[in-house]
Amino acid sequence: MSGFGKESADIVRAARPGDYKVGMILGSGLGSLATEVEDAVRVPYSHLTGFPVSSVTAHASELVAGTLEGVPVIILSGRAHYYESGNPSIMRTPLETLKELGCETIVATNAAGSLRVHIKPGSPMLINDHINWSGLNPLIGEEDESRFLDLSSAYDADLREQLKNAATEVGEDLEEGVYMWFSGPSFETPAEIRMSQVLGADAVGMSTVPEVILARFLGMRVAAISTITNMGAGLQAHGLSHDETKEMAPLGAAKIKKILRAFLKNMA
Ligand code: HPA
Repeated sequence: MSGFGKESADIVRAARPGDYKVGMILGSGLGSLATEVEDAVRVPYSHLTGFPVSSVTAHASELVAGTLEGVPVIILSGRAHYYESGNPSIMRTPLETLKELGCETIVATNAAGSLRVHIKPGSPMLINDHINWSGLNPLIGEEDESRFLDLSSAYDADLREQLKNAATEVGEDLEEGVYMWFSGPSFETPAEIRMSQVLGADAVGMSTVPEVILARFLGMRVAAISTITNMGAGLQAHGLSHDETKEMAPLGAAKIKKILRAFLKNMA
């Protein structure tokens, strides 16, 4: 069961030949990093075979190939979420494309709700593990034994160290924690948030986990950072809204951008 990664990679290569090192999946608030790519070629997802076009406002839908801090990168500006289609492997082709283009490392970003008072809205959180209690998995239907994927160290320890060092270098605090995936699109209830706290989650969100599983399946190293946009349902005085996510996401995202630039610079 594979997607159209080869076809899409050929289209990207025709537009901008070269081998790439890091693939980035940018969620809410981080889109502006894609505009800062140098020597860039931009390919709308609609021009690529098998790429989903996200319907979420605040998500662009284009692949940007170029360099950032001297590192050849492919940026996926905008992702499709499970809740848009009901397909947990909706990001299969984009991830295959990154792999085909030579990316050994994937960095994913997202917006998330915090479950811990010390992880405040407006701050970034480095994801060190995840909880997938959704009953969904992008590898369901895979036919060979590679489907029994080891996720013991899904979020690469070396990359986490490098990101923490990068944060220190640029003077940003970087909390760390476990991200729990909820399908969305409705936000969680306060009872679900209390459950997540008990289960050991530090933040909740509606993306990233299926992409991480796919990226690990394809043999890429993974790091992920959340921009915390709110406290989980029931933990803040007001209710939750997508408007708040859009409004708050750029605060943490600006910090994540600095951290990612330093991280790339050290890699170049
Ligand atoms: N829950 C789920 N997804 C989110 C949240 C949240 O509280 N905030 C931003 N994305």
